[in-house]
Amino acid sequence: SNQKLWGGRFTGGTDPLMWAFNQSLKYDQRMHAADVRGSIAYAKALRKAGILTGEEEKQITEGLEKVGREWASGQFVVKDGDEDIHTANERRLGELIGAAAGKLHTGRSRNDQVATDMRLWMLDEVAKIESTLKDLIRVMVERADKEKDVLMPGYTHLQRAQPIRWSHLLLSHAFAFNADLDRLRALTPRISVLPLGSGPLAGNPFLVDREFLAKELGFQSVAENSIWSVADRDFIVEFLMWASLAMAHMSRMAEDLIIYSTAEFGFITLSDAYSTGSSIMPQKKNPDSLELLRGKTGRVFGNMSGFLMTLKGLPSTYNKDLQEDKEPLFDAVDTVSASFQIAEGVIGTLEVHPDKMERSLTTDMLATDLAEYLVRKGIPFRETHHISGRAVALAESRSTSLAELTIQDWKSLSGTFDEDVKDVFNFETSVERKGAIGGTSRRMIERQVATLREALRK
Ligand code: ARG
Repeated sequence: SNQKLWGGRFTGGTDPLMWAFNQSLKYDQRMHAADVRGSIAYAKALRKAGILTGEEEKQITEGLEKVGREWASGQFVVKDGDEDIHTANERRLGELIGAAAGKLHTGRSRNDQVATDMRLWMLDEVAKIESTLKDLIRVMVERADKEKDVLMPGYTHLQRAQPIRWSHLLLSHAFAFNADLDRLRALTPRISVLPLGSGPLAGNPFLVDREFLAKELGFQSVAENSIWSVADRDFIVEFLMWASLAMAHMSRMAEDLIIYSTAEFGFITLSDAYSTGSSIMPQKKNPDSLELLRGKTGRVFGNMSGFLMTLKGLPSTYNKDLQEDKEPLFDAVDTVSASFQIAEGVIGTLEVHPDKMERSLTTDMLATDLAEYLVRKGIPFRETHHISGRAVALAESRSTSLAELTIQDWKSLSGTFDEDVKDVFNFETSVERKGAIGGTSRRMIERQVATLREALRK
């Protein structure tokens, strides 16, 4: 046990199960590059503070670069005593350069070190997720732009409601993701706060220049309170909340598409690339990709609520409970990244069946348009709603469609009806009337496409 970095005050060994229980290297090695970067910057700061000579700084930097290369090429050899990525890298540095390695941790604690590594790692991952999310939105926007001619039933309560353009529905999901993109970008200033130089909790006694450190590592600001900075994991909670909301949007979209891919709807067919078969029923082609997108939403919510439960009840500063931040965060990052890429593939390759969509449009879905026809002739909407409702009931009682009522029928419902009532029963006219901003008319689809394209340019 005195081989351990903290072994000095110990005489007894660690219980083997306890050792495994405590060890985080198997998952925190993902942060190897961040750990090396943080240490190289810290060595520079120690040199500026007069703790390291120029020669020692050079040895440490070159040694750390070698450690980094070993990780990157898969050649880093983990040893039994390596507890986490920080101790593993420091142990290896010592093997490579000898005594000078022992000066690197001066004034530093794994508490400010791990918080720094997590934030550095996050900043890279958030940038990658941002670009994956943009790719997904782009595919949705391009598809919507190409398919604006396709009309389909729009649903509320999953009941036929009003005709819409297929593109309008697709773009509705794209707008939800676009808001997620905004929210993701807004996380960065709070992730980009430097903990390094906080020490274990009370601050750094060697007066390392923390503003210099922040600049070296690309942080936007320096944590102003060392107690807070070693304890703070709010940036992880925020990310998990962000991921939960983005996945809730994913799940809603997946659910729409699952329903539309059933034989009963038949609006879309998923490509083979994103479907799987049944081990017994030869005819089956299942939308597993969409079901997994919907299903994985639950696991991301679980990561969020689980980690909040870990935080609840902790006292100030660092407590080992905080090591439990990693697995939920890493899992959420992996899950959202994979989900955005899969969704991009699903949306990019699915086949739309315009005939089937259009055949599902029924004239009762124009009952609102019928009421609006009377509004345009001066009748208050509340009355026109009632008259239109009676027309629906009349058609239903005759097992016929609204469009088939005769002029006598119309006149019996209201003297205001004219021959031109026939013009109401046109789905294209109906969608084109929704011309206010945000509506399903062609021009407003084009506007949405332009708005999202602009957002993607940022
Ligand atoms: N592996 C630890 C973690 O991930 C590093 C910090 C350990 N600090 C300590 N004082 N034991 O949280």
